[in-house]
Amino acid sequence: MAKSTTKKKHSKRSDSIESTLGEKRLFKPSKAFSEKARISSMAQYEKLYRASIKDPEKFFAKQAEELHWFKKWRKVLETKNPRLSKAGAGGGSFAFTQWFTGGEINACYNCIDRHLSSPRKNKAAIIWEGENFEQRTLTYSQLHREVSKAANVLKSLGVKTGDRVAIYMGMTPELAIAVLACARIGATHTVIFGGFSAEAIRDRVNDCDAKLIITADGAFRRGTIIDLKKNVDNAVTSGCPSVEKVLVLKRTANAVVMIAGRDVWWHEAMAEASANCPATPLDSEHPLYILYTSGTTGKPKGIVHTTAGYLLGTYLTMKYIFDIRDEDVFWCSADVGWVTGHSYVLYGPLANGATIVMYEGAPTYPAPDRFWDIIERHGATIFYTAPTAIRAFIRAGDEHSNKHDMSSLRLLGSVGEPINPEAWMWYHRVIGKGRCPIVDTWWQTETGAIMISPIPGAVPTIPGSATLPFFGVEPEVVRKDGTKCNPDEGGYLIIKKPWPSMLRGIYKDPERFQKQYFTEYPGLYFTGDGARQDKNGYFWIMGRVDDVINVSGHRLGTMEVESALVGHESVAEAAVVGRPDEIKGSALVAFVTLKKGWPADESLKEKLRNHVAEMIGSIAKPDDIRFSDALPKTRSGKIMRRLLRELASTGSVAGDTTTLEDFSVLEQLRAGEEE
Ligand code: PRX
Repeated sequence: MAKSTTKKKHSKRSDSIESTLGEKRLFKPSKAFSEKARISSMAQYEKLYRASIKDPEKFFAKQAEELHWFKKWRKVLETKNPRLSKAGAGGGSFAFTQWFTGGEINACYNCIDRHLSSPRKNKAAIIWEGENFEQRTLTYSQLHREVSKAANVLKSLGVKTGDRVAIYMGMTPELAIAVLACARIGATHTVIFGGFSAEAIRDRVNDCDAKLIITADGAFRRGTIIDLKKNVDNAVTSGCPSVEKVLVLKRTANAVVMIAGRDVWWHEAMAEASANCPATPLDSEHPLYILYTSGTTGKPKGIVHTTAGYLLGTYLTMKYIFDIRDEDVFWCSADVGWVTGHSYVLYGPLANGATIVMYEGAPTYPAPDRFWDIIERHGATIFYTAPTAIRAFIRAGDEHSNKHDMSSLRLLGSVGEPINPEAWMWYHRVIGKGRCPIVDTWWQTETGAIMISPIPGAVPTIPGSATLPFFGVEPEVVRKDGTKCNPDEGGYLIIKKPWPSMLRGIYKDPERFQKQYFTEYPGLYFTGDGARQDKNGYFWIMGRVDDVINVSGHRLGTMEVESALVGHESVAEAAVVGRPDEIKGSALVAFVTLKKGWPADESLKEKLRNHVAEMIGSIAKPDDIRFSDALPKTRSGKIMRRLLRELASTGSVAGDTTTLEDFSVLEQLRAGEEE
């Protein structure tokens, strides 16, 4: 593994140690950090890692004892291979692995109740700040009370263990309370990001037959109000037959229509609810949540996570990768609408009894220093954000962060997309003042928890590399034919063994699950990412190799945006590709052919962009729309996305075009761009 890297010559700079590894800069954790860290040397990491791979059952059984169990498991790990009609039986595949079978546990109990018998009882669990600077702090015992009441409200609205509840809210404490209340009674939650449209809500609610939607009148964002309730109303009116009730938090006090018999105010229901609601013991494999994410088809996939394995994965990664301590103030800036918010705003930190910061609004509102101001005022010690935000901050200028005393920080994290070395260095130098290790954490909605990341007190980091795998994770970079790549040879990233927080399926679609993740490299998990492993064993993630694009760290399927575009009356055909973007990582470019009679003008472009926002949400709005009479296709009629990608990124096509059916199309597209 990376042993040899640690032996290279090093020179002291600030409090961390830098040296060079060929052209690359190597950063060793400072002595001060390592000494206090749970894992403080490469040797210790390697020993634990080897043990986790050699005997995962033994390793994870020991770790799982740190959680609270109503009933101990019978077996740590069991792989079952059900017969599937289309995708095959999956012989040897670990697709259908279960963890801690026979055990009974409750995620909410582990995140709250477990801490009440310790001094953590009156410790801040959530320090919340509204966009309008409002502040609220909930201790673990206050959180317990609120969550218990909310769980009773759910019951009073007819929600039972096993039902699905959709949550569409802004980043308020009640969002955390709603999520945990579902977990408390075993209702499977599906959080829908507050930036998604009515159509997106309807599709998700219908896919999982949610009985209840929890929402708010509105959410504050960049000084304006997002009409959450109106979006829910539009979704339900357009056809959500499973929805019986809508629970509405009053947050922004904008006018809303409450439908008698269906809609219930949160504050009214909570006022009447009892604070006594013991957590329900649930099977280890009870579905904790479904989270929809983009894939390679037009329809988002409902990724299913279950209780015990997921909780253990988030608990352990939080403990070792963020090296969380009782005295820490942990701030993950992600929205709970994404998996990062599930795992590292809520479940991971709370299972560790940590204090979290939760912020409602936009990063640059009312001024570009908002994040740094929050770090200073709340004394955040660990900050976890996305490269896209870091790049936006770089552009805004160092003066905004330099205004603030951020000496409380001791560790920084990055997630969501590859972090370019320049952004890494800025994060290290300007925010971390050369003092804080950076954990570049690679993982996915599907993996539930961090998979590849430095252990901060042990593993030397190199800007741009997510470094080494976490315990129990066995990644490999392979060629198309499945053979292992040589060091530094680019290939496809796969995972060879099951891990506790792995997805358990795509909701109601085991065939698609098997096909999507376990057939490309039969029996092994295919991540959809390209990567290379250097000669020291470090992983370098190169980004998606499928039709999924990471826009500002958010996953979008090109097919999803294409189906939205062709849903507009003017569009005959559409192809969406990504092009590199300095801030967003990737930007969306849509090539569109119009039906006869539609004017290819700016106003139609704007209409199409708004149409996509209506169908999916603003995050999916194409950055560029280019009209063309035809799209480049092969003779068999397949759109040649490769050419479009090249055209969108470089403005010309130098690659192989021999399979192109009609060469004049390219000329036309190029001319269109020059206009
Ligand atoms: O392409 C990888 C990228 O984000 C994808 C997963 O997206 P999502 O499921 O939305 O989860 C994002 C938050 C975990 C991956 O397939 N990705 C995530 N983290 C990194 C990354 N790419 C490079 N480096 C990372 N640290």
